[in-house]
Amino acid sequence: MSPPEVPVPDLPTRRLGRTGLDVVAVGLGAMDTPHSPDAAATVHAAIDLGMNFIDTAREYAGSEYLLGQVIRVRGCLDFHVSTKTFSHTADGAQRDVDRSLSVLGVEAIDLYQLHDVSSLEAWAAVMDEDHGALTGLRIAQFRGLVRHIGVSTHNLDVLRLIIESDAFDTVMVDYSAFVPESAALIAEAAARDVGVIVMRPMGGSGRTSIMRGEIARGEVGLVTPARLLCHVLSHPGVSVAIPGARHPSRVRENLETLAGFVPMPEADQRALEAAARAFDEA
Ligand SMILES: NC(=O)c1ccc[n+]([C@@H]2O[C@H](COP(=O)([O-])OP(=O)(O)OC[C@H]3O[C@@H](n4cnc5c(N)ncnc54)[C@H](OP(=O)(O)O)[C@@H]3O)[C@@H](O)[C@H]2O)c1
Repeated sequence: MSPPEVPVPDLPTRRLGRTGLDVVAVGLGAMDTPHSPDAAATVHAAIDLGMNFIDTAREYAGSEYLLGQVIRVRGCLDFHVSTKTFSHTADGAQRDVDRSLSVLGVEAIDLYQLHDVSSLEAWAAVMDEDHGALTGLRIAQFRGLVRHIGVSTHNLDVLRLIIESDAFDTVMVDYSAFVPESAALIAEAAARDVGVIVMRPMGGSGRTSIMRGEIARGEVGLVTPARLLCHVLSHPGVSVAIPGARHPSRVRENLETLAGFVPMPEADQRALEAAARAFDEA
C-alpha cells in the first residue's frame, strides 16, 4: 500500500439533509472504481485526501467488496458508506442489507438507498406497505442495521413523488450542465430537508473521456470536468456530488476543485449549459 496522501486543506462540508450528517461536498462514486488496477489506491486516496462520503451499490460489480477490503486494511470505518438495493420487495431488501453488512464488514450502514426507482411501476412496488422494499429497509433500520434511508431515480415524475412522500432522508439525482432540468426539484427537496446526492455530475464517462482527449490536445473549451463540478456545487440545494473515479489523481483534482470553489454566477451556469448542449451535438 502506498503512503497516505496529504489531506487537501479547506474542504467545505454540507449537511446531508435530515440525516444530519456533515459531508465533504465532493464524495466518491465507486461504481466503476473496481475496474482499475488503481482501485484500492483510489479509495484509500479518497479518504486520506479528505472525502468522507463514498457511494456504492449491491449492483456495482465488485464495489462493495472493494470498500470492504479497504475498511479491513484501515482497521476502521472512517467515512460514511452509502449503498443500495435493486430489490423492490421487503424480503429482498432485507437480504441485501445482510449481504452488504457482511461484504463491507461493518455493523451498520449510514445510508441505504432504493436503487434506480425510475418508473411509476417501480415506485408503486417499492412503496407497497406490506411487501415493498421501503418496508424492508425500515425493518433493517429498526434493527439498527441501517441509519438512514434514501432512494435514487432517473425520472423527474418519480422524483416529485419521492419528495412529496416525505418518506426518505435523501434522494440521488442526475444533475449536471448536461442535465440541468432537475434543478427545480433539487431546490424542492432541499426545502423539505431531504439530502441531495448528485450522481453523474460530470455527465458520465463517455463525455469525460472526450473532454480528456480535448484537454490532452490543448483544445480546452468551456466544458471541463472542473467547471462541470463547480456548476453542480453552485446549486445551493446540492448536499454532495459524487464523481466516479478510477485513479487517485482524479480524486485529488476533484477535491482541489472543491477547495477552490466559489459559486458560479447564474450567467456562467447558463453559458456552460449551452456549451454542454453544443458538446453533445458535435
Ligand atoms: N443510482 C443510479 O442509478 C446511478 C447511476 C449512475 C451513477 N450513479 C452514481 O454516480 C457516480 C458517478 O457517476 P458516473 O461515474 O456514471 O459519472 P460521472 O461522475 O459524471 O463521470 C465519471 C467519469 O468522470 C471521470 N472523471 C472524474 N473526475 C475527473 C477529473 N477530475 N478529470 C477528468 N475526468 C474525471 C472518471 O474518470 P475515471 O473513471 O477514468 O477516473 C469517469 O470516467 C457513480 O459512481 C455512482 O456512484 C448512480
